[in-house]
Amino acid sequence: MSTVEYEIKNTTELRNAEDAIRMAELENMRPLPRISVHAFCESEELQRVMERCGQDRRMSKVGLRITSGGIAAAANMFASAPTPNLIILETRAGAGNLLTELAPLASVCDPSTKVIIVGYYNDIALYRELVRNGISEYMVQPVAMPDIMMAMATIFVDPDAEPLGRSIAFIGAKGGVGSSTIAHNCAFGISNLFSTETILADLDLPYGTANIDFDQDPTQGIAEAVYAPDRLDEVFLDRLLTKCSEHLSLLAAPSLLDRAYDFEGHAFQPVLEVLQRNAPVTVLDVPHAWSEWTRSVLASVDEVVICASPDLANLRNAKNMMDALRKMRPNDKMPHLILNQVGMPKRPEISPSDFCEPLETDPIAIIPFDAHLFGNAANSGRMISEMDAKSPTAETFSQISHIVTGRIAVRKARKGRLLGLLKRK
Ligand SMILES: Nc1ncnc2c1ncn2[C@@H]1O[C@H](COP(=O)(O)OP(=O)(O)OP(=O)(O)O)[C@@H](O)[C@H]1O
Ligand SMILES: [Mg+2]
Repeated sequence: MSTVEYEIKNTTELRNAEDAIRMAELENMRPLPRISVHAFCESEELQRVMERCGQDRRMSKVGLRITSGGIAAAANMFASAPTPNLIILETRAGAGNLLTELAPLASVCDPSTKVIIVGYYNDIALYRELVRNGISEYMVQPVAMPDIMMAMATIFVDPDAEPLGRSIAFIGAKGGVGSSTIAHNCAFGISNLFSTETILADLDLPYGTANIDFDQDPTQGIAEAVYAPDRLDEVFLDRLLTKCSEHLSLLAAPSLLDRAYDFEGHAFQPVLEVLQRNAPVTVLDVPHAWSEWTRSVLASVDEVVICASPDLANLRNAKNMMDALRKMRPNDKMPHLILNQVGMPKRPEISPSDFCEPLETDPIAIIPFDAHLFGNAANSGRMISEMDAKSPTAETFSQISHIVTGRIAVRKARKGRLLGLLKRK
C-alpha cells in the first residue's frame, strides 16, 4: 500500500469511527422539547441535513421550518414576524464581516431566541467572538445531522442547560377578580402571537375553570402530575396535556370535589420543573390562597402577576402580597399588577392612581368591566380575541402577553436595541 493510500484509508476509518461515536451519542439523546426552530440554509447540503433532522423521532415535538437563504433572509423575515426559540443560520461571512452582517438580524431578534451559526471558517478567534456576543454555537461545514442534533441538545436538553421555559403565575388579590380569565387569555395570546408552545397549568384543583373556558373535558391533567411526582417525565406529561389550540396545551384541573386537596409546601415543584424543561412558556393559574404550596409556587416562577379589582379589600390584600413577594423574591422584578373589572356601573371604586400609589407600582394594564364581552366569552368557551379580535380589551391582552414574556413589539425593538442580540450571552 502506498503512503497516500494508507493515509486515505486511515482518514476514512477515522471518519467512520467519529460518525459511529456521534450516532451512539445521538442514541442516548433525550427528545427535544416543544421548541420552534427556523433554519436558513445557503447550501443544499445543509438543507438536506436539516430535513434529516426533521425526520428524527427526537424532533417530533419541534416546530421546524427550513428556508433557503442566509442572514439577510432571516433579518427580512423577522422584521415582521416573531423570532422562534432557535435560529440556525448558514453563512459564508468570516471574521471580517460576520458581526456587521448579523446586526440587522440582532435588531429584530427577541432576547430569548438562541442562534446557531453554520459557517465555513475554522477560526477559533471568530468562534470566541461570536460566543461572547450571545451566539450559542458556531459550527464549521461540513456538518452532519448528528452534529446539529447534538448542538440543539446542548442548548435545550442537557441537564445543566438553563431551563428552557419561562413561567408566569397569575393570582387574584381577592376571589373572583378575574385572575383565571386573565391567565387563560394571556396563555392563549402568548401561544398565538408568538407561535410559541405554551402550557397552561390550572392549579385550582377543586374549582378550576380552564377546562370550561377552552371548552374541554379531559379526564387527566394536573392532579395526575402532582400526585405522581416520581413518574413525571416528558412522556408522562405528554399524556396529561390537552390541546386547546395550535400552540396551546392545557394541564387541566379535575374540578371535582370527590377528595380534599391538601398539598405539602413543595408539592408542585416537580411539576414546575418538568413544565419548564418542556415548553418555552408555562402559564400558571394560581387560586386565591396563601398556603405553603401557593407561596412556594409564587417564590419560584419567573414572573408573578397580581390581578385586582378597585376596592379597599383588594388594595389591602394587593399591598400585603406585594410586600410579601418582594421579601420572598428580593432579587427579582416586582410583581406585575393588573387592575380588572374597572368601571362597573354604579359601583363606587378607588381610582387607578389612588389604588396604585400605596403599591408603589404602575399597573401593566387596566381592563374595563364588560359583562357582555366577558360573559359571552365564558359561556361559549372562547377567548376574548376570538370573540372580538378588534376590541380594545383584546389589544390589552396582547400588550400583557408582550410584557410578561419580555417580548417587545417589533416596532419598539427596532428603535433602541440595535445590538440587543449581539450584546447578550
Ligand atoms: N373585565 C371583566 N368584566 C366583566 N366580567 C369579568 C371581567 N373579568 C372577569 N370577569 C368575570 O368574572 C368572573 C370571575 O372571573 P375568574 O373566575 O376569572 O376570577 P378568579 O379571580 O379566577 O376567581 P377565583 O377566585 O374563583 O379563582 C367570571 O365570570 C369572568 O367572566
Ligand atoms: Mg380563578
